[in-house]
Amino acid sequence: MTAILTGHARLAGVIGWPVAHSRSPRLHGFWLERHGIDGVYMPLAVKPEDFAVAVRGLRAAGFRGANVTIPHKEAAFALCDTVEESAREAGAVNTLVFQDGGITGRNTDGAGFLANLGQHGIDPAAGPALLLGAGGAARAIAASLRGLGVAVTLTNRTRTRAEALAGILPGCRVVDWQARNAAIPDHALIVNTTSLGMGGHEPLEIDLSHAAPGAGVSDIVYVPLETPLIEAARACGLKTAPGLGMLLHQAVPGFAAWFGVTPTVDDALYDFIAADLRPKG
Ligand SMILES: NC(=O)c1ccc[n+]([C@@H]2O[C@H](COP(=O)([O-])OP(=O)(O)OC[C@H]3O[C@@H](n4cnc5c(N)ncnc54)[C@H](OP(=O)(O)O)[C@@H]3O)[C@@H](O)[C@H]2O)c1
Repeated sequence: MTAILTGHARLAGVIGWPVAHSRSPRLHGFWLERHGIDGVYMPLAVKPEDFAVAVRGLRAAGFRGANVTIPHKEAAFALCDTVEESAREAGAVNTLVFQDGGITGRNTDGAGFLANLGQHGIDPAAGPALLLGAGGAARAIAASLRGLGVAVTLTNRTRTRAEALAGILPGCRVVDWQARNAAIPDHALIVNTTSLGMGGHEPLEIDLSHAAPGAGVSDIVYVPLETPLIEAARACGLKTAPGLGMLLHQAVPGFAAWFGVTPTVDDALYDFIAADLRPKG
């Protein structure tokens, strides 16, 4: 996929350290080609100590903006001239837009999460939600659910981290990690935001057999594409939303801001990215 660029080409990319694992160049490259856009989206490997100078340099060089990934999301928050509500709630920025002479930061993880639920026929506001985990992704997701008025229960291996999150997000309560199975029947939505179940990590120990009929289960882990949690939820007849869709949906607002076209998340895109995530050989 090699684009022939003009001198007017729109420029964007993903800033991370390391960045080689990022699927974002493949994802945005798919949309650029689909829409025949004179533009490029590139991986930008930037060390933490170089982050601020790199961002200012990209802006000075005419970039439209960039995605920001680990470990730069908090540094990006601090660097922005304007921070949108989504980023304030998440405490982190994953999308930079260079506009009107300044740097605007937003966080698209919560919106991507909700859009993925919608695409899988899960109503996020159907009832209380149980979130496993209290890390960066949990914060963005909990904020998006609270924005819909959903009561959120947090459970995390390190309870104090869940309590800290509940302290900044009114409407969240905390249950012990050991009590997670007992909490399941009271929730309409169960979400894994931990790294458990990811390839090379420990499995997520959970029992869905007492889940409420019609409950939805989402796993934001997307390697493997179908995690054991998603497989177990299907076996129990529950609605499921695997994690790759969230990754695809969270990319939409950035692409629209930089390249001027709002792209769609469809089966062709899913298959293109999934093909890169399946075990080779
Ligand atoms: N689908 C998407 O678009 C998307 C977006 C963002 C993230 N993700 C995925 O979501 C996962 C979490 O990302 P993050 O940025 O939130 O990471 P993070 O801030 O490092 O949080 C990690 C979470 O996992 C928990 N955890 C880790 N090891 C555990 C273990 N052995 N037992 C119990 N809990 C454990 C941590 O609990 P403690 O607090 O006790 O350490 C914490 O709650 C990653 O797999 C990431 O790839 C997916």
